[in-house]
Amino acid sequence: MSKRIFIKTFGCQMNEYDSKRIYDVVKEIGFEKTDKCQDADCYLLNTCHIRDKASEKVYHEIGRVKKIFRLKKKPLVIVVGCVAQAENKEMLKREPYIDLILGPQAYHKINDTILNFTGKEKVEETEFDAVTKFEYLSRIKNKVGKATSFLTIQEGCDKFCHFCVVPYTRGPEYSRPFDQIITEAKNLVDQGSKEIILLGQNVNAYNYKNQRLSNIINEIEKIKDIERIRFTTSHPKDMTDDLIEVYKDSKKLMPLIHLPVQSGSDKILNLMNRKHTIEDYLKTFERLKKINPLVEFSSDFIIAYPGEEEKDFIKTLNLIKEVRFINSYSFIFSPRPGTVAESLKTIDKKISLKRLEKVQETLFKNQIEKNKSLENKIINVLTENLTEDRTKVFGRSEYMTPVIFKGSKKDIGKILKIKINKSNRNTLFGTVIDNLDQKVA
Ligand code: SAM
Ligand code: SF4
Ligand code: F3S
Repeated sequence: MSKRIFIKTFGCQMNEYDSKRIYDVVKEIGFEKTDKCQDADCYLLNTCHIRDKASEKVYHEIGRVKKIFRLKKKPLVIVVGCVAQAENKEMLKREPYIDLILGPQAYHKINDTILNFTGKEKVEETEFDAVTKFEYLSRIKNKVGKATSFLTIQEGCDKFCHFCVVPYTRGPEYSRPFDQIITEAKNLVDQGSKEIILLGQNVNAYNYKNQRLSNIINEIEKIKDIERIRFTTSHPKDMTDDLIEVYKDSKKLMPLIHLPVQSGSDKILNLMNRKHTIEDYLKTFERLKKINPLVEFSSDFIIAYPGEEEKDFIKTLNLIKEVRFINSYSFIFSPRPGTVAESLKTIDKKISLKRLEKVQETLFKNQIEKNKSLENKIINVLTENLTEDRTKVFGRSEYMTPVIFKGSKKDIGKILKIKINKSNRNTLFGTVIDNLDQKVA
């Protein structure tokens, strides 16, 4: 009988991609996935370290697993991801229930680590070895069967924003070889993917022997059965001319650009070590709008960063009104261990919360208005799966907005024309009009 693995994933899309690839790898040594934690022979937790209480969340989760297995044989417990990297040996000391720790650049070692584990000694693998990892992973097929797939093209970060743990947990910037990426993209499409979302902590910093993100997009665009291309997450400083130009002619690159700005104040951007100004950001926005008026932006905001005064905060609100971001994320600043901002004086909790509420109110207003403006219009939707009650279909608009409509299994993986009848802040509801080919965004 095969062994069963239960995988739980916290954090960003890169962690989702990693969990998927880890499963492809452990399948080689006989593991099958289970959705029932209590049935697992191996419990794997993929962790995120980006904001506060991240490690507490991990220990809490392991405590829950311990309870589930109280009266049963203990599963092999593996913790991977960014908390594993940040806490490494400390984690094994604090929670002896954990057997193996692997950092994000050590996943190629997972099968050997499992096979060599005797139970006597705990194992920790946290070296940064992205080259070997991706070489190894490229030999193992990315098995999907989903309409939309992630594809990591770049990992790590050299920018060291003062608030962020990523350069410490993912290591230095690394770009995967160009051909390796194109082969993986073709393989995903052969298995039925219609959309590829290119991933990287700094995806637009991709640079492999002078091949840039724009070259990857142009090459993937040539794959016949691919319908949509997206990329995330970008840094404003790396929105280079060649990348902006792709928006002029590409038929498949979607018009939503996630470009985190964090704050609308130059003073705060400087304190954060973001390496660009609001003027630079707005220039990029205007150039893109000029090249392709359908382009819209979404963003990430950090509210109440140490030193943020009311006047800085107002600048953030003004920027949101000017750019009219859609689908954005906003968080109160959270001091992270090992970062420059860790020891800075934080802003009063009440003020921070009030600012967050105000920002979210402004962002939500944009989102509601944008969705409302689509009512009675016909839009292209890529259908991804059935809803839980199996009578409706879930898909996404070109701007990533969830769309729900009456349909069946046969609709999955198709781009359909949907007439929007109703909307709320997060979702559009509609009816199928036709099954025509997608038009240029
Ligand atoms: N590389 C991307 C960039 O340069 O914007 C961001 C990647 S980070 C994984 C995702 C988001 O988490 C950031 O854009 C930021 O808004 C948020 N974030 C990171 N560190 C944070 C912190 N210490 N407190 C609050 N939010 C944080
Ligand atoms: Fe973190 Fe992004 Fe800054 Fe890198 S560029 S340190 S990933 S916020
Ligand atoms: Fe979290 Fe690591 Fe992603 S800290 S956001 S899982 S890169």
